[in-house]
Amino acid sequence: GRSLGVFTSGGDAQGMNAALRAAVRMGIYLGCKVYLIYEGYQGMVDGGNNIQLATWATVSGIIGAGGTLIGSARCMDFKERPGRLRAAKNLISFGINNLVCIGGDGSLTGANLFKQEWSSLLDELTETKQITEEERENYSFLNIVGLVGSIDNDFCGTDMTIGADSALHRIIEAVDAIVTTAFSHQRCFVMEVMGRHCGYLALAAGLASDADWIMIPENPPEKGWEDKLCKRLALQRELGHRLNIVLIAEGAIDKEGKPISADYIKDIIKKRLKIDTRVTILGHVQRGGAASAFDRVLGTRMGAEAVLALMNATPDSEPVVISLNGNQTCRIPLMESVEKTKAVAKAMEDKDFLRAAELRGTS
Ligand code: F6P
Repeated sequence: GRSLGVFTSGGDAQGMNAALRAAVRMGIYLGCKVYLIYEGYQGMVDGGNNIQLATWATVSGIIGAGGTLIGSARCMDFKERPGRLRAAKNLISFGINNLVCIGGDGSLTGANLFKQEWSSLLDELTETKQITEEERENYSFLNIVGLVGSIDNDFCGTDMTIGADSALHRIIEAVDAIVTTAFSHQRCFVMEVMGRHCGYLALAAGLASDADWIMIPENPPEKGWEDKLCKRLALQRELGHRLNIVLIAEGAIDKEGKPISADYIKDIIKKRLKIDTRVTILGHVQRGGAASAFDRVLGTRMGAEAVLALMNATPDSEPVVISLNGNQTCRIPLMESVEKTKAVAKAMEDKDFLRAAELRGTS
């Protein structure tokens, strides 16, 4: 059977464990040796104890747990060729040339580069006698399949990334909790949620919680938005509401691309409306806790599909990402989604915010 390595990379996300578990078990079921690579790319670069053979039982009891059993890191060494060279050598020493990468856009971009470079890395390893000619032959190609794990839901080509639904649940719980205390004191709360440059979490949480105002990077407000915001909040009060909730994405910006902070909004509301206003920044609470049922199922489906895709790979097949499209798991070219993700970054830079949202598919 083949040997495959599974690793999680970048920011963790609920549901990564479900994906990991499914990949390990599908691999074992199909007669493969499955290795867990601990601490993301860093573990691949460092080798040794970071690479361990998994059994069916290794992944028992983790399906609902948040985080990732095998650790994750944002690795600097892998960004440089010498780091990737060491990673290639370590993989070959374990006989691994099939990888399941569970991570965000940065991690998948790294995987793509690794695949493209693989044969030149092997050349260098052979020339410097770090691997044998026979190993060069046996592991002449690298298969990679990516799974998108990120609470941000910011990846092109998939309806949902693994973790976004759980983070959304966490946010909704927090908003519900804030609402009860806001009600008692007739306060306004400005709540900041994660998502990097993507407004999905803020938008979906705002819809699901009856927020009064939502600010997302994809829809920077027109000049003078502060007046509109205050008018809206005042109207709510006139209608008899005892509280206000403003949800702001951490990446929210104005038309010039300048960040809008939760504190700025709080000060405006306090000054103009004389409403007692507080800021709550949810932070990493959103990335923690149990995975939702949706993320457990999504992770499981994607993890299993990733291994099936690896088994179908041929030396010249393009690396793929497993995506969810209209509730079907499907395989899309990794290159294409990486390119699209770059196009999103470019559109954001050019302040073409709606285009960015369209490209991402979360408009
Ligand atoms: O990408 C996931 C995410 O949680 C973003 O929403 C956030 O901007 C970032 O990671 C936080 O990064 P760190 O965990 O390194 O502080």
